[in-house]
Amino acid sequence: MRSRLAEALLIAAASTILFAGLASPAGAEDPAIGNCTWCHGGGAQGYLPAPRLAGQQRAYLRAQLERFRMHGRDAPASIQFMWAAAENLSDGRMRALTDYLAALDTKPAMDGNPALEGRGRDIYQNGVADENIVACVACHGPHATGVGAIPRLDGLSHSYLVRRLTDWQNGYNRAGATPMPHIAGNLSPDQIDALSSYLSNTRYAGAAR
Ligand code: HEC
Ligand code: HEC
Repeated sequence: MRSRLAEALLIAAASTILFAGLASPAGAEDPAIGNCTWCHGGGAQGYLPAPRLAGQQRAYLRAQLERFRMHGRDAPASIQFMWAAAENLSDGRMRALTDYLAALDTKPAMDGNPALEGRGRDIYQNGVADENIVACVACHGPHATGVGAIPRLDGLSHSYLVRRLTDWQNGYNRAGATPMPHIAGNLSPDQIDALSSYLSNTRYAGAAR
């Protein structure tokens, strides 16, 4: 992990130069995706610490790129890896990239703890009423595939999900992220582990976007 991080840091520095050097606007067939998959992995399936982008809801992807560009998504990993990557994206290139990414097929990370899946599924589907934890299904949907500005969660990596939920607990990424800072704030570390295990081991094959 440590060497991966160091490697990605080097890439972050290099990507600033790369982005500055890319003058031509992105067309539908040439979305300059290589600059993104360098960190986000082949087919944009995710490569820690960068999450899978393939098959993600396009409105959500667009909102996040704008958030990075405006510096509203301000967790340490966001600043370190994504501020430079989003900085030089024109609106046209952003649209081309997000259209392309949203249409890619997804693979589940499958890196959760199988022993925790049952508990995670229960919290996802039913919430925990007496602990003020809402059922995630209400917004993210029965198969966790999201809709519009609500992201799909099925098959995202365990460590990314844990980090996202913990970053909100620690006060990061609050701008524009309603209702998640509040929802994440009620979860215990065990519940986050269980939810992330369930979600990372889940794939809804028939996802329609
Ligand atoms: C230097 C490595 C790096 C490069 C290059 C990079 N990313 Fe990222 N990206 C990351 C990391 C790490 C995160 C997770 C940030 C966080 O935890 O907040 C991320 C997060 C994202 C997210 C948020 C996903 C979500 O589920 O919320 C989007 C969207 C995104 N990147 C798109 C892109 C696009 C499009 C490109 C190419 C223009 C790109 N990235 C280039 C490392 C990179
Ligand atoms: C009332 C609607 C709602 C409910 C209920 C809800 N979410 Fe969300 N969730 C959202 C929205 C909207 C976003 C996008 C936030 C943003 O733009 O930053 C989101 C984003 C997320 C993300 C970020 C995914 C990524 O790709 O980075 C995670 C993880 C997440 N939610 C987990 C959960 C979990 C776990 C639960 C249940 C405990 C839950 N959510 C319940 C609306 C909801």
